[in-house]
Amino acid sequence: MARSVLCVLLLAVAFAQAKHEKYEGHQLYRVAGPRHEISALEAHLDIISATPAARSVTGNLEALVRLAPEEKQKWLQYFDTKQMTYTKVIDNLADILRNEEAMIKQRKYAAKRSGKSISWDTYYNSEEINNYIDQLGEEFPDKVTVINAALSYEGRQIKYVRISTSRFEDLRKPVIIIDAGVHAREWVTAPVALYIIHQLVVDVVDNNLTERLDWVIIPMANPDGYEYSITTDRMWRKTRSKSHEGSDECPGVDGNRNFDHYFGTSAASANPCAIIYEGPAPFSEPEIRVIRDVVLQNLDRAAMYISVHSFGNMFLYAWGNNGTLPSNGLSLHVAGVRMATAIDEMALEKADRYVVGNAANVLYYTTGTSRDWTRAVGIPLTYTLELPGYEYGFLVPPTYVEQIVTETWDGISAGAHYVLSLQ
Ligand SMILES: *[C@@H]1O[C@H](CO)[C@@H](O)[C@H](O)[C@H]1NC(C)=O
Ligand SMILES: *[C@@H]1O[C@H](CO)[C@@H](O)[C@H](O)[C@H]1NC(C)=O
Repeated sequence: MARSVLCVLLLAVAFAQAKHEKYEGHQLYRVAGPRHEISALEAHLDIISATPAARSVTGNLEALVRLAPEEKQKWLQYFDTKQMTYTKVIDNLADILRNEEAMIKQRKYAAKRSGKSISWDTYYNSEEINNYIDQLGEEFPDKVTVINAALSYEGRQIKYVRISTSRFEDLRKPVIIIDAGVHAREWVTAPVALYIIHQLVVDVVDNNLTERLDWVIIPMANPDGYEYSITTDRMWRKTRSKSHEGSDECPGVDGNRNFDHYFGTSAASANPCAIIYEGPAPFSEPEIRVIRDVVLQNLDRAAMYISVHSFGNMFLYAWGNNGTLPSNGLSLHVAGVRMATAIDEMALEKADRYVVGNAANVLYYTTGTSRDWTRAVGIPLTYTLELPGYEYGFLVPPTYVEQIVTETWDGISAGAHYVLSLQ
């Protein structure tokens, strides 16, 4: 008996160790170069994120890229020929992933023992996230409605919460819509969404934010990809669908290229194996249709939409497809700056200051994004929010979760006050 338990334990440990093996010897490089060169890499390499280069005025971008041992020589030579500069920032990705997993396990265990239903210093799986919001729905029935929106491609329940002191019936109240977890590996986005719910419902620091506004929050938009990133491949970004040609080899779609806005034009990729694969058709992904439907259902009153991503310290607004500004470009910028300033005031000293700007001007062209589609269908203030990654990128250690959720809440609250100021 004891022996078989031990066997199972050893197997579990071996399995946990094995899953990161595919990244043994993979290295992360910070690569800087001209905008068009960096953006061209995205179709071929795992670009972990791109940001304006050292906040420089040169117009260069900086990307964090992952290089497998067998492709390293080829790419470093390529960077040299293109006059791109690079430095190695992580020597063996597998080691980092093993450490991260051990730390999360330890913290989750401690959190469970403390008896709290949620703790802001670890990460939870999609079932635990769903359980937490269900629990809030039961505890605060006059404020929180949990909606079982749809099933993911693999059959997981996608839930969202509606927060309202007036049962969503006061048609004068503006609505703020927030989603998180569209990109599976950007783990810190879900706690940010959960903390916003928590501040609105449990801590209630500011009654105005619920009495004069309604909220719709989707804390885990892509549960299939997220679970896969937990159990199998920490670097997974896309959904897990297999409804496109080539999906046996390369399943999944980049949810933030799957919206019906300039879909299928050159700035995304039609190659199913690319990390920015747009999918076989606009809204091909059930997960993305949930966001579409929530937006369309609330269009009359929706004043602000924020899609939470990790990482890069940015508020990006439309139009990403061509770099021109929507007619309300000024208020998009002002609201973005309000949020960014509130966050920067609370940020860690080592964090980069937030950049606020047009997505194509700050980074590069993108198509089929939720930010552009939501602006195009009529929500006035729509953003892609890129949270801080410090030196870790989206592998932010759980010790930073509390810092990120609290500072981001200040930003969201400033954004909500901006919406109220327009009333
Ligand atoms: C809520 O709104 C009212 C009316 O605008 C204002 O007087 C009050 O200071 C606000 N409360 C907070 C906490 O911001
Ligand atoms: C840029 O794209 C937007 C839609 O995203 C469109 O409304 C606008 O006309 C385009 N501008 C130019 C100059 O092509």
